[in-house]
Amino acid sequence: MRGLAGKRVVVTGGSSGIGEATVRRFREEGAHVVSIALDGEIECDVADPEQVAAAFERIGEIDVLVANAGISIRSPFVDIREEDWRRVLDVNLGGVFRCAQQAARRMDEGVILMTASTNGLTGHEHYADYNASKAGVILLARTMARELAPRIRVNAVCPGYVLTPMQRAEYTDEMLAAVDATIPLGRHAEPEEIAALFAFLASDDARYITGAVLAIDGGETA
Ligand SMILES: NC(=O)c1ccc[n+]([C@@H]2O[C@H](COP(=O)([O-])OP(=O)(O)OC[C@H]3O[C@@H](n4cnc5c(N)ncnc54)[C@H](O)[C@@H]3O)[C@@H](O)[C@H]2O)c1
Repeated sequence: MRGLAGKRVVVTGGSSGIGEATVRRFREEGAHVVSIALDGEIECDVADPEQVAAAFERIGEIDVLVANAGISIRSPFVDIREEDWRRVLDVNLGGVFRCAQQAARRMDEGVILMTASTNGLTGHEHYADYNASKAGVILLARTMARELAPRIRVNAVCPGYVLTPMQRAEYTDEMLAAVDATIPLGRHAEPEEIAALFAFLASDDARYITGAVLAIDGGETA
């Protein structure tokens, strides 16, 4: 990818799944990458504004943020507990907001990418809080793209089903097979496939892409 060598990149949720693959990919491209996560190189709960501010203070100026940390709690809508609603919104939407604000204040020119989800595009049963958080991320990205142009490009990536620890924690083998049967490409995504889209979007080849919402879902939402 053009223009990634030497870039200072921060990936939140970089210790597992999509984030871990993204850290690896940017390092392969020659970028300097720092991972922020509950168990990352910099330990930080993105739901806590003070921890986020301290983490970015430590990091200093950056060129690229991939705001990717997220959680999901599978539950029927009528059983969602108040504390779970708050936690999911606080990590998935509030965490992206906080990290993106810190990053935007520390960039002259740069790129902010966010991990939304196809769950932010269409209703997926048993994930009402998660879906609402991801829909919020999409409009946060689009609004920031307008406000921060032309200095900073901002895009939201919407993965479909990706084989990560998050997915394995909530889906049995039968559930995974049932999902695969509904996907035109017939399988889950590999984390590396999402990482490749982040690398492209952060590169100079994507210099005219901002405010975009890109599904990478094997045809799920087609
Ligand atoms: N796996 C999928 O099918 C899928 C699909 C679409 C979108 N996503 C999104 O992709 C992102 C990564 O998911 P994944 O599947 O790789 O999950 P994962 O569980 O493998 O990794 C999640 C990462 O986020 C970090 N994290 C969680 N809560 C945090 C907090 N409060 N503060 C800081 N870091 C925190 C974890 O430490 C970990 O590094 C999430 O935003 C998720 O919603 C996943």
